Amino acid sequence: MGSHLSRSSVSLRRFALGDIAAVHGWFNDKEATKTLVGQRKTFSEEEAEAWTRSAIEDGEDRKYAILVEGTDEPVGFTALYGLERDSGPELGALIGGDWRNRGVGRPAEALTIAKAFGEFGAHRVYGEIPVFNEAAKSVVASLGWRYEKTLPGHGKRDQESFNCELWSVVPPDFYAAAADLALD
Ligand SMILES: CC(C)(COP(=O)(O)OP(=O)(O)OC[C@H]1O[C@@H](n2cnc3c(N)ncnc32)[C@H](O)[C@@H]1OP(=O)(O)O)[C@@H](O)C(=O)NCCC(=O)NCCS
Repeated sequence: MGSHLSRSSVSLRRFALGDIAAVHGWFNDKEATKTLVGQRKTFSEEEAEAWTRSAIEDGEDRKYAILVEGTDEPVGFTALYGLERDSGPELGALIGGDWRNRGVGRPAEALTIAKAFGEFGAHRVYGEIPVFNEAAKSVVASLGWRYEKTLPGHGKRDQESFNCELWSVVPPDFYAAAADLALD
């Protein structure tokens, strides 16, 4: 594990076709995908291209490539799923390769949540997190999120189901908890 990065070295940008190889790498990274609610058995280059093309479009979801200062390729992505929902969008995040646990996820998720509240006018952002995903829970807890309830058997992997937790955040709690990140 390397040392933590400063918030200013992490930024978001929209996806471009040049990101297909990076996308292909993330979804074939077994360590990265094993803590997701759902894991694809295979993820081909064609699927990576289709994923990237849809990420470029402005639909009901928004996906952002995460950049770390000094690297050429994005190191992962964040997503807001279902921006049209009254209940608020769902946050997604995945950091690839050697970049997990180095302080990228917290600022990247914070920048994404700030977009949900600021740019898209959401009143709440929520997330479904596998009960064993300690890194994901630690990051959202540090950004003012609260545990709401357990969703029994909500995730499934190789015929085995597991519990997930529903977490959510509202603007005052988020901005208080993320004050150290100087998001404005
Ligand atoms: C979840 C994820 C996005 C977080 O991003 P990240 O860059 O690794 O997060 P950070 O480095 O900013 O913070 C991770 C925190 O979790 C903590 N953590 C990691 N593993 C932990 C564990 N097993 N138990 C307790 N805390 C843990 C770290 O100590 C760190 O907290 P700290 O900064 O206070 O030390 C990233 O780990 C990831 O992509 N995981 C794979 C995909 C995934 O699970 N996505 C979320 C699906 S719900």
